[in-house]
Amino acid sequence: MSGKDVMSLLHPFLAVVVVFPIIGMVVNLAWQTRQRRLKTANHGQSKIPPVVGPEHRKLGNWLTGSVVGITLVAIAYSIYFNGIFEDFKSENTVQAVLIIMIFIATVASLVFLYQAKPKLWRGVFATLTGAGIVILGFQDGVFRRDFEWQVSHFYYGLIASMLMIFSLAIVPEIYKDRTHKWRQVHTALNCLVILVFFGQGITGARDLLEIPLSWQEKHLYKCNWEKQTCPDSQSQTLSAEVIVASISNYPTLAQAEAPIVLASGEFVTITPGEDTEGTAEIIQVGDKIQVRLADNFSAIEGPAVRLLLHKENRPGSYTAENYVRLGDLKSFKGEQFYDIPSGIDWQDYPNVVVWCEKFNVTFGSAKLN
Ligand code: HEM
Ligand code: HEM
Repeated sequence: MSGKDVMSLLHPFLAVVVVFPIIGMVVNLAWQTRQRRLKTANHGQSKIPPVVGPEHRKLGNWLTGSVVGITLVAIAYSIYFNGIFEDFKSENTVQAVLIIMIFIATVASLVFLYQAKPKLWRGVFATLTGAGIVILGFQDGVFRRDFEWQVSHFYYGLIASMLMIFSLAIVPEIYKDRTHKWRQVHTALNCLVILVFFGQGITGARDLLEIPLSWQEKHLYKCNWEKQTCPDSQSQTLSAEVIVASISNYPTLAQAEAPIVLASGEFVTITPGEDTEGTAEIIQVGDKIQVRLADNFSAIEGPAVRLLLHKENRPGSYTAENYVRLGDLKSFKGEQFYDIPSGIDWQDYPNVVVWCEKFNVTFGSAKLN
């Protein structure tokens, strides 16, 4: 395992070894606190010792700190290894300094939240801590799973962190309020948090299975995550004859699998500053026609970047008639594969184009010969 692989395990390790055991203890003490309070409400006696409330509060403090802590560890890892620090350019210095300052301000706000007594300051520091997490969470490199936000580990993590910060901020209200309104709000919200923690256990374990170790990356990034297919399963539905041939004559199978290059071209940068380079190929694998971006491909990072086949080499416009969309650009670097939709003849659209849809900027284009 590389250093990066080890770092990627820090967040799940802390979640499993630190956060989840604390959740167990906090919930157990919460249950006892409530049982004791209900029993003693009308001068009754309870076998549950009176320390359960303060103990719940003490561990609750630890829980808030550890949940916010592992959230920041996860986001820091993603920004450092997948965001602007990955391939650092001097023009990003201001952004990088701002990100580091927001990290420091977020941790400082949390520390102040623990110390603050007046309601106003607790409100201010809770808001600052929450805002810091949201701003950092929306930086490049953080995997938010926007295409499946309902089951996103990131959004669940954000909700859990916000509710923990809120719990910490309202502790004095819970104690002051004789009508128990704040207790009820606290209990209701934190029952929801328990469900979110279950969600974190499931979605975190799923993401751990999906994230490759560094030696696996080049193989797994050829997969199409939305369609849940990988080149091997995508391209070869072998006929019975080929399978028989493969048993008796291995080279025949190799021949059936080998991709045939039908055309290729080199990317040139179209918009100055949006550097795009490398080779694009049209390949045939079995009866499938695909676009392959070669190992030497690289494009500048940007939002909502798509890969297209276009009629023009320097596209003047993007209309339904002049281009065919192959999908979101899967990676800004390295080898990747895209299926050409059936019924489309690539020769009618002989240019592979990298296009930032959000700002309608053509990054680069490769003329196929
Ligand atoms: C999984 C998370 C949590 C759950 C399920 C939970 C649930 C509860 C429940 C059921 C009670 C008793 C309410 C009653 O008396 O009816 C309680 C009390 C309390 N909780 Fe939590 N809580 C959680 C996290 C937290 C956190 C993170 C904090 C603070 C940082 C906190 C602070 C408190 C305080 C101060 C009380 C009052 C304790 C007392 O009566 O001495 N809780 N909580
Ligand atoms: C209280 C529990 C947890 C919270 C609040 C939490 C929060 C987060 C957050 C906010 C991210 C940021 C997403 C990113 O940087 O790309 C993240 C990433 C990650 N977490 Fe967790 N997490 C929790 C538990 C777990 C557990 C139990 C596991 C696995 C056993 C796990 C595995 C991961 C992995 C693999 C990533 C990186 C990939 C991704 O973004 O999903 N997490 N977590």
